[in-house]
Amino acid sequence: MAEIRVKAYAKLNLTLDILRRRSDGYHDLRMVMQSISLHDIVYIRETGNGDIEVSNSVAYLPCDRSNLAYHAAEVFFDATGIENPGIRIEIDKVIPVCAGMAGGSSDAAAVLRGLRELYAPDISIACLCRIGEQVGSDVPYCVFGGTALAEGRGEILTRLPAIPDCWVVLCKPPFPVSTPELFSCVQTKRLICHPDTKGMIQSLEKKDLPGILHRIYNVFEEVLPDKYDEVYSIKSRLMDLGALSACMTGSGPTVFGIFTERKAAETAMEVLKKEYDQTYFASMIHA
Ligand code: C5P
Repeated sequence: MAEIRVKAYAKLNLTLDILRRRSDGYHDLRMVMQSISLHDIVYIRETGNGDIEVSNSVAYLPCDRSNLAYHAAEVFFDATGIENPGIRIEIDKVIPVCAGMAGGSSDAAAVLRGLRELYAPDISIACLCRIGEQVGSDVPYCVFGGTALAEGRGEILTRLPAIPDCWVVLCKPPFPVSTPELFSCVQTKRLICHPDTKGMIQSLEKKDLPGILHRIYNVFEEVLPDKYDEVYSIKSRLMDLGALSACMTGSGPTVFGIFTERKAAETAMEVLKKEYDQTYFASMIHA
């Protein structure tokens, strides 16, 4: 029976801008996204029983249709017209959940990439991204990976030059942040600052790491409710520990710091890990 193992990489937002609220309830976004080495592993095994089964290494995550990986498999077979032979999806979770790192979307994208390789190798990545759109706004980017500009709901993707090598420390405070809740805060508050997305793209084109680090910005930080203030103290800690830039990723609450010296990043990771269980070290992943 066919089987495959796929890495599901986490993502960072080098920039996140919200342009407008749309009539369908979504927001038009403009984001520079980056894959990092922190990853879950998704195993897909053919069972022959015609069903979709999901299991997780984390007990509290759902294994039914509400799991994006399950939904991705359903959508894949529907969209391609391929008959589901029966598959079992096992997810070995490492990426923190509800953390702003697209962990669930990345697992869904890994399912799509794995099923493509097993059953539909002729389908293009662009077509797989279109299938991913039906599963969630971040899924097309997670299929695409690497450094990319994501616009619209997040599904309009443009490849960008790879970020020069640098190191990341990620630290998730011990509370989840709801993405819809944070989007609703945007409606009640006018955004004053926006990232310099154009400048970020030019800096990537010039491989100008200081220029890139200087332009990292996420508008969600501006509307973050006071109850999540720990995000700001983690940002300060990362900067005190030698990060050249620190920012919240996605709808948070994970904060990342970027370092040019590997040793400094590893030391910062060790220091923060004593206070925050969910602290990680990662490198950049190129598409
Ligand atoms: O597409 P997805 O299900 O991942 O989106 C989760 C929620 O995030 C949406 O229901 C919406 O509230 C919000 N969202 C948004 N605009 C986007 C992406 C997500 O408002 N571009």
